[in-house]
Amino acid sequence: MPEIANVNGKITPVHEAMIPAEDRGFLFGDGIYEVLRSYNGRLWAFERHMKRLERSLREIEIVGLNLDDIFHQIRNTHAQSQIQDATVYIQITRGAGPRSHTWIATGLEPTFFMTVRHFQTRGSGNEKGIRAIWLRDQRWGRCDIKSINLLPNVMAKQKARSQGAYEAIFVDARNQVLEGSSSSLFSVMNNALIVPPNSPAILPSITREIISEIALELKIPLVEKDITLDEFYQVDEAFIAGTGDEIMGITELSGKAIGQGEVGPMTRKIYTQYRERISKGED
Ligand code: PDD
Repeated sequence: MPEIANVNGKITPVHEAMIPAEDRGFLFGDGIYEVLRSYNGRLWAFERHMKRLERSLREIEIVGLNLDDIFHQIRNTHAQSQIQDATVYIQITRGAGPRSHTWIATGLEPTFFMTVRHFQTRGSGNEKGIRAIWLRDQRWGRCDIKSINLLPNVMAKQKARSQGAYEAIFVDARNQVLEGSSSSLFSVMNNALIVPPNSPAILPSITREIISEIALELKIPLVEKDITLDEFYQVDEAFIAGTGDEIMGITELSGKAIGQGEVGPMTRKIYTQYRERISKGED
């Protein structure tokens, strides 16, 4: 089946999709996005992603969209692709117009863009774990908004890959570990899960939200607290979590082992349960 795009309601093969060059997404990165997946033809965690999309739009004051129509288009375009295991990318920008920092009174129409592509498998990370590096966080102060401005994330992930690692973990100026360049971060200590509190410094991850519910079901304590880089090197296990990666154990951070240097039992347990929920469509 073809990989397709939808630009403001017009569905085409992805490589034929066109956006005006003066789109503010292109000029300023003035927009937000979502990434979701489908498994066996079913969109996973659709409502949760749409709720976050709505919040991101509100936070950057993109208004005047018919969201019910957008949600319908997303479902419809995905269905039309007939791709069973897809990555669905959605982007909404403030629209196209002569370059001007301000947008008031310019009568812009937001640009809706989405693609439906085959999910590309991520290698052996779910089974064998991944190596990561840590980097100082150079992003802006509103990482809770899923903004399309991803230059620090792009640079960080590229650096990780160039060093043979899979993910870069951001550490803030107070030495607290935050999240990955495109994933959320969990630690395991004394059979409890530890995550940084949701704040403007990290994205409110949908996968993390689902894992929190799994922890509750399995009676695994989940503690929201910041931990420092030094403390992170003392944890029993750690893993990244995200829509694309699902759950991957971190075996090594910047050359030093995390836990036993392999995917730990808690990470495996959570991953098994996460996959189980996917197979049952329990989102
Ligand atoms: N990234 N933190 C950051 C900075 C992210 O970019 C992502 C997801 C996550 C995990 O969020 P979720 O569980 O909702 O996927 C955390 C997507 C997949 C991306 O940019 O491609």
